[in-house]
Amino acid sequence: MTEPAAALPRSLAAVVFDAYGTLFDLSAIAGGARDVLGQDTEAFALLWRRKQLEYTWLRALMGDYADFWQVTGEALDYALAAMGREDPALRARLMQRHMNVPAYPDVVPALTALRARRLKTAILSNGSPIMLTAAVNAAELRKHLDHVLSVEAVRTYKPHPTVYALAPAALQCEPLDVAFVSANSWDVAGAAHFGFRAVWLNRGKAPAERLPARPALEIASLAELAGALPA
Ligand code: LAC
Repeated sequence: MTEPAAALPRSLAAVVFDAYGTLFDLSAIAGGARDVLGQDTEAFALLWRRKQLEYTWLRALMGDYADFWQVTGEALDYALAAMGREDPALRARLMQRHMNVPAYPDVVPALTALRARRLKTAILSNGSPIMLTAAVNAAELRKHLDHVLSVEAVRTYKPHPTVYALAPAALQCEPLDVAFVSANSWDVAGAAHFGFRAVWLNRGKAPAERLPARPALEIASLAELAGALPA
């Protein structure tokens, strides 16, 4: 692990966050339907998320963009079919829960601490603007954020560099002035490859990805972020 003081320099201008899995707790979505999903809950949640991401990568490669709400619904339909659980009421309930996915408890304290250090804060996410607005409002995060940026502006998905380029453009700074925080290790690789100071929020103690760019810093909780800034 890189020494925090070296990883995040004094010149840092902004901290940009991934949304799903980083600020918002995806496990709460299927977890709220455990009464129906029972012991399939975790396997179902993993399959839905995996398909949701696969479909973003595949659509980006195919050059056939559809927004993240559509992709999320199509991935859900796959997961429901694969597990023999096609049920319109369950589908509607899970999509509604995704729209209003809760934030992790470490989010507001971390955003507050960063802004107290005069750092700008933003979200940069695959989520559609409607999804991001709903989740940000449900968790009352808007007042803690300078920008909420969606891939919708460039109609492709992470880890395409045009997506990451949205952040320095909005923040009017250089990529190296941005710390990009994600719990999704492949997103961390994409962000580091683009030129951000990538911070891997390794919430699940996962092994490092074998991809061509490495994070500048690894943390286990957002509570560690402010402490990694230079004094
Ligand atoms: C996002 C996905 C990667 O929020 O979780 O962009």
